Order: sequence, then C-alpha cells, then structure tokens
Amino acid sequence: MSEWTKSSWRAKPRIQMPEYPDQAALEAVEAQLARFPLLVFAGEARRLKKHLAAAGRGEAFLLQGGDCAESFDQFSSDAIRDTFKVMLQMAIVLTHGAKVPVIKVGRMAGQFAKPRSAPTETVNGVELPSYRGDIINELDFTAEARIPDPEKMLRAYTQAAATLNLIRAFSTGGYADVHQVHAWTLGFTESEKVERYREIANRISDTLDFMTAAGVNGDTAHTLKSVEFYTSHESLLLEYEEALTRVDSTTGKWLAGSGHMIWIGDRTRQPDGAHVEFARGVQNPIGLKAGPTMTSDDLKELMAKLNPENEEGRLTLIARFGAGAVGEHLPRLIKTVREEGANVTWVCDAMHGNTIKSSSGYKTRPFDAVLREVREFFAVHAAEGTVPGGVHFEMTGQDVTECTGGVRAVSDEDLSDRYHTACDPRLNASQSLELAFLVADELSNRRDAHRSQAAG
Ligand code: PEP
Ligand code: CO
Repeated sequence: MSEWTKSSWRAKPRIQMPEYPDQAALEAVEAQLARFPLLVFAGEARRLKKHLAAAGRGEAFLLQGGDCAESFDQFSSDAIRDTFKVMLQMAIVLTHGAKVPVIKVGRMAGQFAKPRSAPTETVNGVELPSYRGDIINELDFTAEARIPDPEKMLRAYTQAAATLNLIRAFSTGGYADVHQVHAWTLGFTESEKVERYREIANRISDTLDFMTAAGVNGDTAHTLKSVEFYTSHESLLLEYEEALTRVDSTTGKWLAGSGHMIWIGDRTRQPDGAHVEFARGVQNPIGLKAGPTMTSDDLKELMAKLNPENEEGRLTLIARFGAGAVGEHLPRLIKTVREEGANVTWVCDAMHGNTIKSSSGYKTRPFDAVLREVREFFAVHAAEGTVPGGVHFEMTGQDVTECTGGVRAVSDEDLSDRYHTACDPRLNASQSLELAFLVADELSNRRDAHRSQAAG
C-alpha cells in the first residue's frame, strides 16, 4: 500500500463531496482550521477504542445516538441537554438489562455533513443541487442557498466546540451523577415506559443507599458521580477532517481531532476511494456502515485496509440492512469476518434501512420496523454464536413527530406536527426509551441463555 499522509485521500476518487466554487476561500478556511485546537484528545480516542474492544467481546455494550444531521438553526443548550439526558436514561435501562458497562457515544459535535441519494433535487419543475448538511450549504430551496460555502466549516467547528464543552460539563459537573437517576425523567410526558424506568431508578437508588450505608466510598463512589461520553460523526467532508488531523505527541500516531470515533458511510466505503484512504491512517476507532450491497470481497479488503494489525476495538461494523433483510445479509458477513479471523465489534443501525415515504409525503421510519431490525440482529448473533456489541440510532430528546408508531402512537397524519429534522427522521424521547427497554430485554435474554449453557 502506498504511503499514508493526511492529504493522501486527495489523490483518490472522491464522491459525495462538494465542489467549492472559490478555491482561494476554501484554502483560507483550511489554513485557519489547521491552527485551531483539536476538539478531542488522543488518550480519549484510545480509551474509547478499549471500551469498543470490550463490546466486541460481549463485556460492554455500545449506545450510539443523536441527530441525523446537526443544524445551525436548532443549536441550543436545551436540545443538547435533552438528547444527553435521554441517552443517560437509555444507558441506565441497558446497563440494568445487560449487566455490563454501556459505552455512550453521541452523533454529536461534528455530525454536519450528509451524503445524499441524488446530486440534485427537483421541486415544482425547478432543479437545484441537493442540500448536503449545514457545514456545506443551506436547506432553503434557492440557488443561492445551495452553493457550497467553505466558511460554514468555521461555524460548524465553533458549534462542535461549544457542544462538546457543554457535554463535558454535563458529564463531570454533577448532572450525570447516577444519584440523579430520578431527576433525568423530569420534563418527560408520563407513559408506561417512564413508569418502568422509575422502577429501575428506585432500585438503583436503593442500591446506592445501601452502598453508602455499607461505607462504600473512594474510587467507586467517585466513578458513579460522572460518566464518560464520547462524540462521533461521519467522516465525509475530508477538507474539514484533514485540517483537524494532527500527530499525537505521546505515540507519534495521527489523530482525527474532530471527534472521538469517526465512521465511513454506506455510500462512501469504496475500498480505493478517498474516504477509506483518509480513515486508514488515523488512530481513532473507525465505524464502517454495512448495507445490503456490501460484498464479502469488499469487506475483506476494507478490514485489511482499515485494520491491518487486527487491533481489537479499531473497527466497528455498523449493520444497516433494514427489517426483514438482516437474515439474508448478516450471516454472510459474519462468515467473512470469521474466515478472516478478524476482530470487529458488531453494531446494529436500525434506522437507515427502514426509511420510507409516508402517505402524507414525509420521509419517515415505522417504529415497528426499527424494533424488528434490532430483534433480527440479536437473533442472528444468537444463532451464529457471535456478539451483538451495540446499537446505533438517530434520535433526539425533543418531542418530535418524525418516526411513526411507539406507545404514544405517532400516525402518518401526525408527522407534520413537529417534524424538525434537517435530514432523516429521528426517534423522539419516548420512542428512544421504549427501544432501550426492548434492547435491554434482548440483552438479558442473551445473558440468561449464556448462564443456562454454562450451567448445563
Ligand atoms: C447516516 O448515518 O446518517 C447515514 C447516512 O448512514 P448510511 O451511510 O448508513 O446510509
Ligand atoms: Co441519517
């Protein structure tokens, strides 16, 4: 393989990236970004990699979630807090079911660039370039708004930095202290799931009281007062990624400093393409989306390129086949991984294979299909004797109406009420919690099955 540099992707075929009309403006932005501080640190990325390695062995479980696309307009501390809070709740529910640590990774603080199914969009006979995320152009349907503007990278960086600053404060400043387990429900509309959550929260509170009474303190007590929360996004806009890529002085290895984990999308995973080239040279944990078109040969080549040393935790395979299609595709890819003796962490993205157009015209995802895909993912792993390492969702703490179904059923007609996503439909807070209970049940069934095997 030819030598890697942070710019070597530039010599490879690139797709899903904008053509900036003003090269000088682009270069000025890149130069400025290259002087800005990194958003994350190498030690953090290495720590996340260790956790993901544990998830690959079944000793931890990944919860990855957040917006499809972060937006400049909807940026607010409340939105960040609410998503953070739902993820904490989901993590509590999952930890309770799985009895293993839950690794919390947000699609946050950098999830701005979007691959699109078509380069242009036509409305009432007018054709314009597609919207590609707030870091590139604007959602408004005017020719002006759709011109890629490199200055937007600076605004995205600033928003990512502010988001991460708030997340770091929430994580360690007392908000995420598990003693607050009850307070995280405040502001949620009552539902059967909130009631079930409260029961778990009661049990946790009892346990904490017991620990205090029994004199547990020091490190253990300290651990419970904060959480580790990591960031991730699709590494799509490579000019932005490159400008934030630096050598880590402790190891001499390169780090993509834009987020802890970066992933390669299902549309840009060509083994000889620019996106794979960029990702192979940085030390971050890498996610790789795998949809129905992923062939066994591609997967072999991608594993060899992205993880030549077969390091545990380096590569997370994010399966996104769609409900009803997991049984056809997951076993064949598991077989490939097995044949190669490769270390991977398997994660289920139950969103991207389940997008449909509703009768009311909105892009949506039926909650039932999301649930079904998660169940199929667990069933295949149980049959193959492999490890389901985590889940990946598009979700928000806001009470949106973007996906249909759930206990507080959202119908096709309801979608227009609070449809705010800049791109794909997200689960709302109530649907997210409901899903967490389902995953927790799957995880505890898995644990019981292992126990009875061990006993038998
Ligand atoms: C995404 O995660 O928002 C996305 C575009 O996913 P995929 O590449 O799997 O389609
Ligand atoms: Co999406």
